[in-house]
Order: sequence, then structure tokens, then C-alpha cells
Amino acid sequence: MQGDMYDHESLVKAIKQVDVVISVVGQMQLADQVKIIAAIKEAGNVKRFFPSEFGMDVDKNNAVEPAKSTFAIKAQIRRAVEAEGIPYTYVPANCFAGYFLPTLSQPGATSPPRDKVVILGDGNPKAVFNHEADIGTYTIKAVDDPRTANKTLFIKPPKNTYSFNELIALWEKLIGKALEKTYVPEDQLLKQIQESPIPINIVLAISHSIFVNGDCTNFEIDPSFGYEASELYPEVKYTTVEEGFSRFV
Ligand SMILES: *[C@@H]1O[C@H](CO)[C@@H](O)[C@H](O)[C@H]1NC(C)=O
Repeated sequence: MQGDMYDHESLVKAIKQVDVVISVVGQMQLADQVKIIAAIKEAGNVKRFFPSEFGMDVDKNNAVEPAKSTFAIKAQIRRAVEAEGIPYTYVPANCFAGYFLPTLSQPGATSPPRDKVVILGDGNPKAVFNHEADIGTYTIKAVDDPRTANKTLFIKPPKNTYSFNELIALWEKLIGKALEKTYVPEDQLLKQIQESPIPINIVLAISHSIFVNGDCTNFEIDPSFGYEASELYPEVKYTTVEEGFSRFV
């Protein structure tokens, strides 16, 4: 079935034929998900809605601008879903491994660096890198799982949780070579964020949230609001960071 997000009638018609709506709209359309919410409300048959997340948990982070405003849009959509009484599951998937591992988060790199690496902050806060296919698998597992109804499914498998320093150490072990490391102090990074144009400032502010604040991991998951995906679905053999890196050796 097909429906157009900007054609209410067609969207309601499409949604009436399904039980579950998984939104994968991109950055520029996050706010327009209110149209999907309105159509779900009118259709009245949807058992679970997954708004577009694909990042850190937006209710539990301390990002600076301009990332702060970007994350606030996703939080507003969560609040709209709750206000309309639509059953939901939120799936903050943390960092896409396919985006971060091939470059080790080095701007402009096309493969992980073999000589030098730049580290934001002291490199100690832990981040989480998940392969895109696994994010899809966990999402589908949650679709009709009563445990995930009106809860958040955090994708934070232990083997994908690394500090930046640990990530570099793993890469150095795999290639058998030590890299030259340059650390960017937080105050210098914050200044760079303020002085950079769009979209570089957004990318840097997100990196600040991930690697300096440690916003992927600086909270405990409580059953009152959610679960960790690899704990809920231990049968899923997710691709680990080490396996992902091995492809580039
Ligand atoms: C989830 O929330 C919706 C809307 O408030 C409610 O109708 C539904 O019963 C809730 N489901 C569970 C399992 O709590």
C-alpha cells in the first residue's frame, strides 16, 4: 500500500491496512511526523507506532546547540504520540556502525586512519556503534512484543559499547600499528562548533554529545521506561564492532 505523507486521505487509507507503522523519515521530515500521527489517530487501527529515531535517546542527552534543537524535534514527536494515546515503541539505535567505523569518525576520511587520529575530548566516555541491519532486526523483534509496548528499546549491546580510546586500541590491535593521537580539548571543540557553518556545526555538536558527553551511555535503563535490545533478544547474533572493523583491515 502506498500513501503520501502530505496527502492525508491517502495516508489514512494506507494506514488502515496495517497494524504497525515504522517511520524512517529523514532529518528534514522529522517534524512532519505530526501528519503520520494525525493519520494513525484517524485510522484508529494501529497497534504500534515507531517514530523515526536512529540516534541517541533524545530524552536523555545533554547536547549543545545546534544538535540540541535537532534532538528536541524528535522529543516533541514523542510527546505528541503520547498525548494522542497511540501505542508506541521508541528505538534509539545510537551510532550507525556503517557511518562511524569506516572513517573512525575522522572528517573527510574514506577508510579508518592508519597514521594519525583526532580524538574529541579525552576519549574516555563510552559510545555505542550498531550495524544498520541489526537495528532493523531488533526493531522487527519489538513490533509485536508486549514487553516493548509504550517503552523504549535501547540498542546498547555490550560488544558494541566502546570509548573512543578503546575503539582506537582495537583498531591498532587489528592493524598491528600504533596511531599518532591528537586530543581536542572540550573548550576548543565548543568554540569550533560556534564558529562553524551549517552543517559542520551540527555534525560537531552531535560528535560532542556522543564522544565528550557520553550521551549514548550516561544513564541506567530502568524497566519502568525501557529495555536493552540484546538482553531482550539474546537470540539475535548482532555484528560486533570488532567484526565490523575487521572488514577494513
Ligand atoms: C499503551 O498506550 C496506549 C495509549 O495510551 C494504551 O491504549 C495501551 O493500552 C498501552 N499498552 C500497554 C501494553 O500498556
